[in-house]
Amino acid sequence: MTQDILVHAEGGVMTLTLNRLERKNSITSDMYAALADGIARAQEDAAIRVVLIQGHETVFSAGNDIGDFLNKPPAGPDSPVFRFLRGIATFPKPLLAAVCGPAVGIGTTMLFHCDLVYAGDNAAFSMPFANLGLCPEAASSVLVPQMLGYHRAAEALMLGEPFFAEAALEVGLVNRVVPPTEANDYANAQARKLAAKPLSSLVETKRLMKKGQQQLVLQQMLDEGESFGRMLREPAAKEAFTAFMEKRKPDFSKV
Ligand code: COA
Repeated sequence: MTQDILVHAEGGVMTLTLNRLERKNSITSDMYAALADGIARAQEDAAIRVVLIQGHETVFSAGNDIGDFLNKPPAGPDSPVFRFLRGIATFPKPLLAAVCGPAVGIGTTMLFHCDLVYAGDNAAFSMPFANLGLCPEAASSVLVPQMLGYHRAAEALMLGEPFFAEAALEVGLVNRVVPPTEANDYANAQARKLAAKPLSSLVETKRLMKKGQQQLVLQQMLDEGESFGRMLREPAAKEAFTAFMEKRKPDFSKV
């Protein structure tokens, strides 16, 4: 059991905390497995009514751990990352997130599967897949244009530039912006409010809001996963990841 994900259940709320600060909460396959297991347990356990995913007040997540990712690339739909993604995309109970500081790659794309998102005013969202020679994941290629509109989505997914808490609030990715020191507590208080409501109403409300595109989201995740897996082995991604490890700018002029 990895200590890089802390699982805590209290008062009907399961909190999954990304706890790998020294690596900016970048996510390894062991961490994906722990997150996926937590989500699965929360789905089964009648005592858990709400799940909250949170990081630290200085950083939510730097996305995939790049070294781990290269050593253990996701292998098919049963790999830990896909189990986690399927888990959050189909989780029937309320799912919340508290986000402060950088939220890179999956640190941002997972939020599109949450019901409520609270951000510290230092939050910086980015989906730099194109800068890494990759393509979107987590059904972000459909969910981001849907929420941001096509042109802002193209800016986020093709230029890969970060956008900040106020912009996220404006487009509706975030429900409320609070001081970073308060974000986790605020989200927890909201989670407790939900946990006190009739779960059957929350589950039915969520099902009705999501049912129109559940299949599309799952299919898109599979399509993206195939492309992502292929592109990970191609020269552009190799150059991007080698450059990251060597702490230099990537040179895509030859790929
Ligand atoms: N995978 C592996 N290691 C990572 C990482 C990642 N995604 N993100 C950060 N780290 C490591 C850094 O290499 C550094 O290690 P070092 O102390 O051995 O040099 C350490 O975590 C601290 O990161 P650093 O970049 O110095 O922190 P920062 O506060 O200056 O910047 C980020 C924070 C998140 C903006 C920056 O780390 C970043 O852009 N990371 C890469 C994000 C990314 O491309 N993710 C992949 C998405 S698929």
